[in-house]
Amino acid sequence: MRWFAILPTILFAVSPALSIPLSEPPLHLLGKRDAVCGVDFRSLVNSKSCLPKQVAFTSTPPAVTKVTLPNASAASVPKDSQCDHTVELQVLDFVAKQAKLCEVLTAMANVGQKKDSLLGPASTTISGIQNLNFLDKVVNNNKRSVVQKALNGKPQGSQAKDAAVGNYLALVKGDSVQIASTLDANIATIITTAQTVLQKLPPGTTKRGDKDRINKEALTTALANYDKTKTVTAAWNNVLAVAPHS
Ligand SMILES: *[C@@H]1O[C@H](CO)[C@@H](O)[C@H](O)[C@H]1NC(C)=O
Repeated sequence: MRWFAILPTILFAVSPALSIPLSEPPLHLLGKRDAVCGVDFRSLVNSKSCLPKQVAFTSTPPAVTKVTLPNASAASVPKDSQCDHTVELQVLDFVAKQAKLCEVLTAMANVGQKKDSLLGPASTTISGIQNLNFLDKVVNNNKRSVVQKALNGKPQGSQAKDAAVGNYLALVKGDSVQIASTLDANIATIITTAQTVLQKLPPGTTKRGDKDRINKEALTTALANYDKTKTVTAAWNNVLAVAPHS
């Protein structure tokens, strides 16, 4: 993890060609809200993570255009681009809360199964190149709000920049539904792991305050309350359906 962070800095220092900054803010998508069940996902992606795909989506709202980049260097990225997670962390966080996956993770953490390890595969999926695209910053910033409104069933705006979000999502639909489906598989694995762990937990005693008994009951309850019908696929399909477009 440490080398991951340091290496780009070294490359930056030795190669002037690589040090051309992208339009800012470079780490725009790394905000406080980028946590899933309270686990910080912020260090996963930066403005250069989208480079290997050599694709960007430029926009004159409401129009969005897919552009193939000549190479994977920052110099070829259109001005005013930001590296976007197509399926956003807020979608995963929303579903994790809605399905009560977070309670399962908390109960697992109490028996020594770390939340960030359990969420590792989902974080790899969401930060994989299939889910990353350079996107015009106006559309990208507005996308967060369109997605948030869609998740919460709030009415959408009707400006050109709102329609641009839906137009962008239509262009990346295929990849995004695959990502949503993989995230559901990652979540299913967490649940299977939790069921296996539960079976091996000591029952504890009926003594008041017995930790083993309390932990086992908590995980049993969390798994019973987990709602597998609340999927990333369903949430994402709803986003795709209600995002304004032209
Ligand atoms: C990549 O493409 C950009 C834009 O066409 C160009 O300015 C740059 O020199 C290219 N870099 C490499 C390493 O080929």
